Amino acid sequence: TFANRTAIRGAYVTFTDNPFAAGDNAAMHFEPDGLIIIDDGVITFSGNYADGAGLVQGHPVTHYTDAVILPGFIDTHVHYPQLQMIGAYGAQLIDWLNTYTFVAEQQYADLDYARQVSGVFLDELIRTGTTTAAVYCTAHPNSVTGFFEAAQRRNMRMIAGKVLMDRNAPEALCDTAQSGFDDSLALINTWHGKGRLHYAITPRFAPTSTEAQLEAAGALWQAHPDTYMQTHVSENLDEVAWVKSLFPERQNYLDVYAHYGLVGPRAVFGHAIHLEPAEWDLMASSGSSISHCPTSNTFLGSGLFDFKRAFQPKAPHQAVRTGLASDVGGGTSLSMLRCMGEAYKVGQLGGYSVSAAKAFYMATRGAAKALYLEDRIGSIAPGFDGDLVVLNRKSTPLLQFRDAYCNSIEEALFVLMTLGDDRATQAVYVAGDLAYVAAAEAD
Ligand code: GUN
Ligand code: ZN
Repeated sequence: TFANRTAIRGAYVTFTDNPFAAGDNAAMHFEPDGLIIIDDGVITFSGNYADGAGLVQGHPVTHYTDAVILPGFIDTHVHYPQLQMIGAYGAQLIDWLNTYTFVAEQQYADLDYARQVSGVFLDELIRTGTTTAAVYCTAHPNSVTGFFEAAQRRNMRMIAGKVLMDRNAPEALCDTAQSGFDDSLALINTWHGKGRLHYAITPRFAPTSTEAQLEAAGALWQAHPDTYMQTHVSENLDEVAWVKSLFPERQNYLDVYAHYGLVGPRAVFGHAIHLEPAEWDLMASSGSSISHCPTSNTFLGSGLFDFKRAFQPKAPHQAVRTGLASDVGGGTSLSMLRCMGEAYKVGQLGGYSVSAAKAFYMATRGAAKALYLEDRIGSIAPGFDGDLVVLNRKSTPLLQFRDAYCNSIEEALFVLMTLGDDRATQAVYVAGDLAYVAAAEAD
């Protein structure tokens, strides 16, 4: 017998393969009347209700009708300190960073403030159905301490790290190559591997780090190879030109990171819009990952992500592990449903139509693969963490009306990613515990 058992009945969707490679039908598994049993935080049974009903005799089973249950969503790139300036008007990446981002981030020297916004941020993630994220804090160690404390209290699987930045930013946000190394190392020792928490070494992007700092980041990652490395690459054309002028001896933007040992498994690169062929090849051959941030890329006018090159290149070994991401506050919504809807539109403008199966994959199993966590999260199957989102198919009057005209689960999922948002979240489970339930509707 288990100390803590949760049993859930309802329709669920999970992925057993990559729809971009195997095709949507082969990769997506739909269980119209499913049963999911979570014992002590880990899924121990998933399948048809009739097949598992005997296992839960005498145990309460929560039955969700008019819903579709999915693995908890995964946001592979997001800045929690930017929550306070989400939706700020103005221009493109570099101006936007200087005008809003670098002002807001200065407040996170204060531990209490970091704790407070981290709580707001994580509760909002849960409310949208996101149970794991790869998170940028600020240059202040307190910003990481406050965040990990809040994540630990909620028992969420979270990846986060202190931003490294020692030039081209306000003095109050700059560390040094040495202090950035020392502070990151101390945070790794305190937090990495504690419960469900993972550390990410986080040089913001090449323009805000000196060569000495990138070298120190590479040395730190080499000494702690099971941590993550997260940064930005090739988001904006002016940014790419700036990197070329700052690092004239390097062949391209990604080569700057490669030169300092910052590519490989668990290196997660935000955006990757304007990559040259050699950079795409290195992404794939090094086992590095990309975070696609569609609402940010349209909001900041950065450009259109190349789904075809990332997921369906000429040879299968050239594919790049790619996950969906919000990039809040450059992105405009924490809701992965909104990110999926925007990814579809980015694909449309770039000549690639992203199906519902592909979009939901990028927010679940595909994102887990980008984080090298595809054996732990992102799927509904025995052995996986009990992180689930229950989506209400009829969360607004329009969706209630529209849902009646959906003839397949694929259609219903596509309508959800086109019209749905945080209102669609009916319930969220974090490691088997009910972390959120929507208020009951008035009749
Ligand atoms: N490049 C460097 N820093 C940032 C950031 O905070 N947001 C985005 N979108 N791009 C960046
Ligand atoms: Zn970002």
